[in-house]
Amino acid sequence: MLDLTSEHEVVTPPWRDRVCLGLKGKINEVARAIAGDTDARDMTFTLIKESARSICAEVEIDGQSAFLKLFDGEGEADQLAYMREKTCLLSFRGSGLVPRILAFSNPGRFVITEWVSKGQVQDRLDRLSAEDTGAKLGRWLARYDAVSPAESACGNWYSYLNRFGAEIDLQAVETAQDLLLEIPLCGRSLARNDAALGNFMLTHKGDIIACDFEAATMRPRGWDYLQLYRALILRFADRAADAVEAFADGYAAEHKGALIADELNVVARILFCAEAVAGRKDREALAWL
Ligand SMILES: Nc1ncnc2c1ncn2[C@@H]1O[C@H](COP(=O)(O)OP(=O)(O)O)[C@@H](O)[C@H]1O
Ligand SMILES: [Mg+2]
Repeated sequence: MLDLTSEHEVVTPPWRDRVCLGLKGKINEVARAIAGDTDARDMTFTLIKESARSICAEVEIDGQSAFLKLFDGEGEADQLAYMREKTCLLSFRGSGLVPRILAFSNPGRFVITEWVSKGQVQDRLDRLSAEDTGAKLGRWLARYDAVSPAESACGNWYSYLNRFGAEIDLQAVETAQDLLLEIPLCGRSLARNDAALGNFMLTHKGDIIACDFEAATMRPRGWDYLQLYRALILRFADRAADAVEAFADGYAAEHKGALIADELNVVARILFCAEAVAGRKDREALAWL
């Protein structure tokens, strides 16, 4: 006899079945949200991405496209991810910084947004230089900062990272403490908290629109700056200096407020150094600063 008690394999149903189940009972409303008064039977789906947590698909009906993100994972984390995604899309509605939300369903746990033309920043490296990518992201982030929900917080970056950055070894960078103690926090704001460059899309007009807010959380203002700075260095390894300079300039040119790009650059460099030298005995971090 075969004993299967120790074999616990979770089988995820095919994505089309997941979409049908997720939209069950709401298919006509979905069709209407995308194309007005129309027949939902003509709706087609094209898979973009699937994971245990969610399914992303292009929905087409009557020649109109929309983006569907269905959070059908079973866990509490999946429910929270849906809530964050929806709340951010609603918070930034009308800002031009995120896709316009067309519909959402709390029981169904899905959002539907306007379709942003294909061609992410990631796909257009040939056309977008390190400078252009940096500058566009910097401008986008400054505009995002200006409308992001915020609350006050005091302290400095050293005490914050010491307390909450458990995985960051600040001791690895000799000057980190002195420098970070001098750089104050400028309150907390709703950070995207996910710097994957694949989450930034380019419209046909060349503007950046960001998707994927499921990791959004309140963080010291500037948190996304630090994450994008790092992402740019990793992406443009051989043009890193140009990419981050353009990023800082783009951000400074668009930013209105107390946050100073120069200070964030110092924090970002320290974090990058701490990561680069993590676990190493020969501390080479000073050469970076
Ligand atoms: N409104 C949209 N229009 C067109 N494509 C989109 C839209 N929103 C997201 N995408 C594409 O779908 C991909 C997956 O969406 P995302 O929200 O990032 O899901 P995940 O959490 O699985 O990364 C994105 O990287 C982007 O290429
Ligand atoms: Mg994503």
